[in-house]
Amino acid sequence: MPAIFALAPAKIILFGEHAVVYGRPAIAVPVTQVRAKAVITPNPLSPPGIVLIDAPNIGLNAQLENLPVSHPLRVVVACVLKTLRVITPPSLTIRITSTIPLASGLGSGTAVSVAIIRALSAYLGKPLPEPEVSELAYQVEKIYHGNPSGIDNSVITYAKPVFFIRNQPIQFIDVTHPFTLMIGDTGIKSPTSSVVEKVHKSWHTNPSVYESIFDKIGGITVEGKEAVQSGNSLILGQLLNRNHALLQELGVSSPELDHLVRIALEAGALGAKLSGGGQGGNMIALVEPTTASKIERILQDNGAVRTIITSIGKVGQPV
Ligand code: PMV
Repeated sequence: MPAIFALAPAKIILFGEHAVVYGRPAIAVPVTQVRAKAVITPNPLSPPGIVLIDAPNIGLNAQLENLPVSHPLRVVVACVLKTLRVITPPSLTIRITSTIPLASGLGSGTAVSVAIIRALSAYLGKPLPEPEVSELAYQVEKIYHGNPSGIDNSVITYAKPVFFIRNQPIQFIDVTHPFTLMIGDTGIKSPTSSVVEKVHKSWHTNPSVYESIFDKIGGITVEGKEAVQSGNSLILGQLLNRNHALLQELGVSSPELDHLVRIALEAGALGAKLSGGGQGGNMIALVEPTTASKIERILQDNGAVRTIITSIGKVGQPV
């Protein structure tokens, strides 16, 4: 049996994070410069059923059955085997590598799940179709994030810009006017689940205030979809700024995120906001391709520990 590999990109949320958990629309786009990779190779000398996990990025090299039952990698593999009704897989090694920064709103965990689900199902001779890959990744995410909206598994599985409303069919956005985004990392790790939980507590205490903020974010997302489709980058920039202000009102920004957002705007970005769960992780800025390198340098000089320039809608971008 030859080795089989699969890839999955990172993602960022353009509009609508947090509000999407409460049924409002959100827009997310894939980021193909960084990605997770799963490679499956046979271990012909070991008996069937032995699955080795080799994840050098997190210093893990172990037999699957020696990992805690709740370990995310063990959960993903178990979900795939159960779905495919494979009781004893042939002996194999799953090597996982990823260039996606962890816990920073870029979907690193989901990308690893998607890559494993694709590679393992193909290796076992039963490649899962995209909707099932996405659904399985969602099931895995539910175990760790409590109440995920489903946007991460959708955008990462399909590797296309999505307009997403919870429990509704995904709409893909055809980006005919490419635009350039700068992603700036505060370097502060912030698990999404705890920020989602914090918002939930605040919503519970004060539902009318939070529902009204979610409505405003939902409205911005709808306008954002039109701006993306028409290629109106001035409007798109303003909408990013308005979305950031509402995320501040939700209490999910942080001084470091606000700082990088301000620096990007002062350096000439058309708009900027935090992206993802918030309270750390990444911000994004809409930039002109001609000023991208200048703004990138300024962000790096002012505290961004990592930057990525990505073009959304560029034809032929590899996953
Ligand atoms: O995984 P992150 O940090 O990009 O956050 C996902 C977006 C949230 O709306 C905060 C959570 C969700 O499940 O939609």
